[in-house]
Amino acid sequence: SLAEAASRCRGCALYEDASQTVFGHGHPDASIMLVGEQPGDREDVEGLPFVGPAGRLLARALGDADIDPEWTYQTNVVKHFKFTRKGGTRRIHQKPNRSEVVACRPWLIAEIHALQPTTIVLLGATAAQALLGNTFRVSESRGELLSLPIEIDVDAAPLLSATVHPSSVLRARVDREKAYQQLVADLSKVRANLTNRE
Ligand code: URA
Repeated sequence: SLAEAASRCRGCALYEDASQTVFGHGHPDASIMLVGEQPGDREDVEGLPFVGPAGRLLARALGDADIDPEWTYQTNVVKHFKFTRKGGTRRIHQKPNRSEVVACRPWLIAEIHALQPTTIVLLGATAAQALLGNTFRVSESRGELLSLPIEIDVDAAPLLSATVHPSSVLRARVDREKAYQQLVADLSKVRANLTNRE
């Protein structure tokens, strides 16, 4: 019902140019919720999060960290694709601004309440700052186990962890393999923590 309600969201202007709302998707009993920035071009067309190149890299990194992607719930802070057009047809991703993030945040909070994940992994600065505030720096605190801000009221507080966005690995010109292995290392810490609590 949340996804259905979000499909009609007019909380900011991004719905005007996007094809559709891309709500979160995944296992309803998932213990891990992965939060990205916003749907990309492929996601906007297919209506599902992380089905494009960044999603494929994320799936590989999860597998390498011994996390079954089928057992995760994947979503984004912003549920509509924001883009500019280049050369008539090509759609180029644009970072959502603070007011778009703030307008969309209640959907993410509602997803957290509905799913009650034990761990939330924030992928990239937009996701991390949406929940942890603008002063949070992924470069300084990636891979650490953090907790959800007190104002997000849930029964059993999930652990929070932030790492880079998989797109940043795809964009890395030098040391892409190193950037990939660091992402896997951050996800492996999340995996180890789950095992410790099992
Ligand atoms: N990037 C994101 O942040 N989310 C997606 O769903 C796809 C690409």
